[in-house]
Parts: sequence; structure tokens; C-alpha cells
Amino acid sequence: MVEFSGIRSKMYKACLKEFPHAREEDIEIMEKYLVPKKDETILEVGAGSGIFSKPLANIVKKLIVSDPSKEQLDEIKLLQLKNIELIEQGADTLTLKSETVNAIWSFGAMHHCFNKTKAFQNFAKVLKKSGRLVLADVWCGSKLAKHFDTQVAKFCVTGHEVAFWTDEFAESLCFLTGFEKPKILDLQIQWKFKSKKDIGIFLYKIHAMTKTTPENCLKGAEEILGIEKKKGLYCLNWPMKIIVSKKI
Ligand SMILES: C[S@@+](CC[C@H](N)C(=O)[O-])C[C@H]1O[C@@H](n2cnc3c(N)ncnc32)[C@H](O)[C@@H]1O
Repeated sequence: MVEFSGIRSKMYKACLKEFPHAREEDIEIMEKYLVPKKDETILEVGAGSGIFSKPLANIVKKLIVSDPSKEQLDEIKLLQLKNIELIEQGADTLTLKSETVNAIWSFGAMHHCFNKTKAFQNFAKVLKKSGRLVLADVWCGSKLAKHFDTQVAKFCVTGHEVAFWTDEFAESLCFLTGFEKPKILDLQIQWKFKSKKDIGIFLYKIHAMTKTTPENCLKGAEEILGIEKKKGLYCLNWPMKIIVSKKI
């Protein structure tokens, strides 16, 4: 079963439309660490409803957008961008030809992939020599992992059984599948909102936490992740890490 389908996907897409500015920092992170160039072909993995796809497609020659959920990808189809190719595949089921892409980008998706070894073998196959691998995701032991395991696993309509990362496993995967020793960097992301109430609504929708209320989502976020007010905006801490490596 594809997890991001039905109500889970509907709420995800609606949420990102309702709060189009909350995740602007994520786009800056993509530009900073991926450094996409205009003559490149990039593969986006676990693209969801395409928060990065439009800005990326505006920079590069070709963007191959992948996700195992057709419903998530349908949103990207609506963009009708000529240099985007959509493929309904997970990281572990990619069937692209060898040495077709300059770089791979993924954000917040790989913890849904249970066969990361297969995924990294696929990445090594489809990347050209010295191609870049840039993956931002959730780490074991982080406050974000606690948020997912405490709140989302309990209240999400589909549940949330996932496989978060460790530095050691990321390094082992790179070693085993033909990548350079990765740089693994902390991302102290903050998602930004006009009111605290919006944070509860955002989390309720983005995680489809239909088994609780937006008020309870906000309470959990304040206790586990922390919220601070800066320049008139409420900033929700969203601590992730990023793996940056290169095919040898
Ligand atoms: C939390 S969403 C993130 C989407 C998008 N990258 C973003 O930042 O908004 C996770 C996405 O991972 C996708 N996914 C699930 N299993 C996957 C797999 N094995 N490989 C790649 N992506 C997967 C889901 O369909 C979903 O769209």
C-alpha cells in the first residue's frame, strides 16, 4: 500500500497550499547544499507534492521527479513544466538508466524507505561519475524523531512506522555502495508562522493527525520541538540533518 494516498495525501497537499511561506528556509537549504546548475539533470527523490520541484525546475535543464505516490505527483503534473519528467517510483524501486543524472536531492522522504541499501545502489547506478548525493532527513535520537514517534505515530491516520538515520549507518551505506565518506551536517531549520494557532493547524494537516486535534498538535510541538518568536513570526524548530556525498 502507498502510504501517502487518500486523506494523508489530500491533507498534505492542502496544508502546503494553505501555508505557502512556512517552509521557505527548506528551499534555501536545497539551493545551498545541492547547488543546482542550469545545464544539469537532477533527480528528486520522494518529492511529495513538489515544494522543491518548481524552484528546482526553474534552475536546471531537466528535473526527474520521483515519488511512489501517484496522488502526491499529480500536484506536480499540474505545474505543466516541460523540463519535468514524473516517475512513480520509490528510492528503492528506481528503474532509471545508468549514469543519467548529475545530482540527487531528497528532503524528508528517506525515513519512509525501508530498503536503504537498495536505494543507495540505485543512486550509485543512476548518477554520473562524481555525481552529488544530497539527502536531508530525520535522525534517530533527535527532537524531531521524538515528535514523530510520540505524536505522529499515535495520531496520524496511517500511523508512522519509519526508519530514521544514524551517522554511522549513512557512512556505512556510502562505503558499501560506492560513495565518498559523507559530510553529515546539522540543519537547525525553523518553519515560520503568523500565529501559534497556525502551527497546530499546520502539523495537524501535514501529518494527517486526524486522531487528535490541532490544539493538541500545538501542545506537543511546544513541549517537544520548541517554538520561539522572532521578528513577529512564530518559529517552530525542525531539527534535521543532511548527508552530502559524491559518487566515486
Ligand atoms: C514527508 S513527505 C516529503 C515530501 C517532500 N519531499 C517535501 O519535503 O514536502 C515524504 C514523501 O516520501 C515518499 N516516500 C514514501 N516511501 C518512499 C520511498 N521508498 N522512496 C522515496 N520516497 C518515498 C512519500 O510518498 C511522500 O511523498
